[in-house]
Amino acid sequence: MTADKAVAPHASRRTFAIISHPDAGKTTLTERLLLAGGAIRAAGDVKARGERRRARSDWMDIEQKRGISVTSSVMTFERDGITFNLLDTPGHSDFSEDTYRTLSAVDAAVMVIDAAKGIETQTRKLFEVCRLRDIPIVTFINKVDREGVDPLTLLDDISSGLALDLAPQTWPIGLGTDFRGLIDITGKRAILPEERGGRAAKIVAFKDASELSTTGIEPHILTPTLESLELAEGVLPKFNLQAFREGHLSPVYFGSALKEFGVAELLQALADFAPPPTTRPANVRKVSAEEKPVTGFVFKVQANMDPQHRDRVAFIRLCSGKFKRGMKLFHVRENRLVTIAAPIFFFAQERETADEALPGDIIGIPNHGMLRVGDTLTEGETIRFEGIPNFAPEILRRVHLDDPMKAKQLGRALQDMAEEGVTQVFRPLIGSQAIVGVVGPLQLDVLASRMDKEYGVPIRYEPAPFVTARWIASDDKGQIDKFLDSNKSSVAEDRDGALVFLARNAWTLDQAKQDWPSLKFADTRERG
Ligand code: G4P
Repeated sequence: MTADKAVAPHASRRTFAIISHPDAGKTTLTERLLLAGGAIRAAGDVKARGERRRARSDWMDIEQKRGISVTSSVMTFERDGITFNLLDTPGHSDFSEDTYRTLSAVDAAVMVIDAAKGIETQTRKLFEVCRLRDIPIVTFINKVDREGVDPLTLLDDISSGLALDLAPQTWPIGLGTDFRGLIDITGKRAILPEERGGRAAKIVAFKDASELSTTGIEPHILTPTLESLELAEGVLPKFNLQAFREGHLSPVYFGSALKEFGVAELLQALADFAPPPTTRPANVRKVSAEEKPVTGFVFKVQANMDPQHRDRVAFIRLCSGKFKRGMKLFHVRENRLVTIAAPIFFFAQERETADEALPGDIIGIPNHGMLRVGDTLTEGETIRFEGIPNFAPEILRRVHLDDPMKAKQLGRALQDMAEEGVTQVFRPLIGSQAIVGVVGPLQLDVLASRMDKEYGVPIRYEPAPFVTARWIASDDKGQIDKFLDSNKSSVAEDRDGALVFLARNAWTLDQAKQDWPSLKFADTRERG
């Protein structure tokens, strides 16, 4: 808790992401958190920022047309001596790979749930990713100003649906048109609007919640609220920091992002309970945030944030040490030193040169393709941070180029997009047409649009006679060679030269596994 602050400078870092099903209110909550943290001045700034960014970068028109968010970005803000690094994730499931990688870079997550809808498919998927990685979760039940499911029933559904203990910290006074405010359970205060239906405006402290009857809240709303709260306190577990940090228990904040109820309390929970950077798994050992040498890894690359400059920014999560601008760091994959001359921090509305950064911080490194998703930087040690895999694509397409003169540009552009993680590119051992592989169909639209707008290389897709891909591995090189001899037309190389079996259907994949028991057909491959 607050004692962490005194331990080490990075103990003041809270690096987190928001996970939710589309429409649950992630964008609204992000904006309100930035407002509460003083990072923006007015509601609407996040959208305005989005629009400016779109104006600069045409490919975002896909996002605009479909009303979805396809990029992740980083927003840093400070409050009361705590630095919050909020890593945004795309809401649409077609970009779940991007979200997965972003979740590799956080220490905690906020799970936003719509009070009327409860757990939805995308919430569940992302929750499972957090659970696999032991990421502690704070739950925010949003839209209590709308008609929703009774709080106790909802908590019961979430708790049993996710097999997660829930410890409510705030409680709504009524729902929908009956919504009158929130009770801060442990703080023994109520957060009330100035006028009915308005925004969170005043705080009323109490010794016993029954005193709230003097605030003008109608008895037919207050009485059942207090009854259900009493019941909840009787049956639900109390908050326990260790259980939270181990990922078994989630503190729950009811609220309305739109009306700013519960947002300050959520931010305080992140400050008080969310863990500062601790240890991160790497291939040969765990790396502690306390270690002196600088280490970090690339979890995202974004090309052409500014199309005028063809820039490409690698987002690095620092894991240990104190980073200083101008440092030379060891690029493990390329086995060479690189000077980090112009690192940047991302604030809600601007970028700023990063002179110093601590574990938990995210720095952007502009580069020309030297850094890829999954790369590790150290002060000399050869280690690789793990948990940033490529996933076997679920859709494979041949790329057709209308203008054969542009073959070279096509190769480069595809390489760029693969490095950014927008698509995977496979080069068949026989034939010259590249095959792209994605997890969701919207990724194909984004790829085609960006190829055209950013690189001037219009492409079309043609069906590929394959349904999925598996990375081939074996300790016995002779077996791989034999497999290649008899399956050359179904094998490709990925952008790192790793061999990939392209399966024509589920049956051929099963058959290959049976026929070649000494080979592994892996559905993920660690990047970097
Ligand atoms: P997302 O990023 O998770 O997809 O959700 P977003 O914040 O865009 O919110 C989805 C819709 O829900 C928006 O309405 C938003 O205003 C509304 N919303 C978010 N939080 C609350 C809340 O606490 N209470 C209520 N009543 N509504 C909320 P929209 O009509 O789709 O968009 P807009 O025109 O309001 O921007």
